[in-house]
Amino acid sequence: MTPSPNSGGVTVEVRTARYRVELREFQRWHRLCGVPHARRAARNLLQAHDDKVLSTGLSRDYTRSARAEVSAAGGVSTVLAARTMALVALAEGRAVGGLAAGPSIHLVSQLAVLGQAAVVQAALRTIKVHALAVLPAYRGRGIGRALLNEALTIAENSSARITYGQFPTYAAGVAAFYRRCGMNLCAPGLPVDLRSWADLPAVVAPLPSETLFHRAVRQ
Ligand SMILES: CC(C)(COP(=O)(O)OP(=O)(O)OC[C@H]1O[C@@H](n2cnc3c(N)ncnc32)[C@H](O)[C@@H]1OP(=O)(O)O)[C@@H](O)C(=O)NCCC(=O)NCCS
Repeated sequence: MTPSPNSGGVTVEVRTARYRVELREFQRWHRLCGVPHARRAARNLLQAHDDKVLSTGLSRDYTRSARAEVSAAGGVSTVLAARTMALVALAEGRAVGGLAAGPSIHLVSQLAVLGQAAVVQAALRTIKVHALAVLPAYRGRGIGRALLNEALTIAENSSARITYGQFPTYAAGVAAFYRRCGMNLCAPGLPVDLRSWADLPAVVAPLPSETLFHRAVRQ
């Protein structure tokens, strides 16, 4: 559970999604971010929830055990789902925002040529924000920040090394939002080298029209 922002007269609770109905809403959160395949992204979260794997690997103990023996952790695809989080912000009896984050499939497939150990390292050291959105009527009340802060706390508690993500460079106000939330912003279109941030032989490269944000996770 997280501290709840209480703003504009509305009490907001931020927590991990618990119910199928909350996971289905992730189609909307992905769509608000302009993520392609929003429906598939929500379906994958729902599947991991139904399989009782979603978010089960976001702890230091899990990190240690998966690092030592991935088969004990259920194999690579289980590790990916276990390291994925789905957070919701609830106000006035409904979900008003959501955040999905976890290993990037794109990144882990880049590292697959180096073998399973490299894939698992990437899954354990990196948390990518896949989607973060708040309903328009609830924006500007600290809810986006509360969702992001909760994700950063979870990343810290699970021994990740870097939290990062990307957004369309000209999306109104998004750069200002991430900057105000303490994230480092790259120049538009420029990559982040994960060698220095997470000791991984990989580079996160955005599209030319996108901007990356990132922050080292406190250890
Ligand atoms: C980006 C988004 C999640 C921000 O959520 P929010 O709840 O309105 O943001 P918060 O109220 O927590 O704002 C946190 C800080 O960012 C600033 N900020 C937020 N939106 C801003 C905007 N459009 N312009 C300038 N600053 C902004 C706030 O002023 C606040 O700064 P403060 O330190 O002065 O208080 C929300 O606008 C949204 O859902 N956008 C559509 C989806 C999207 O683009 N997501 C991001 C890419 S995945």
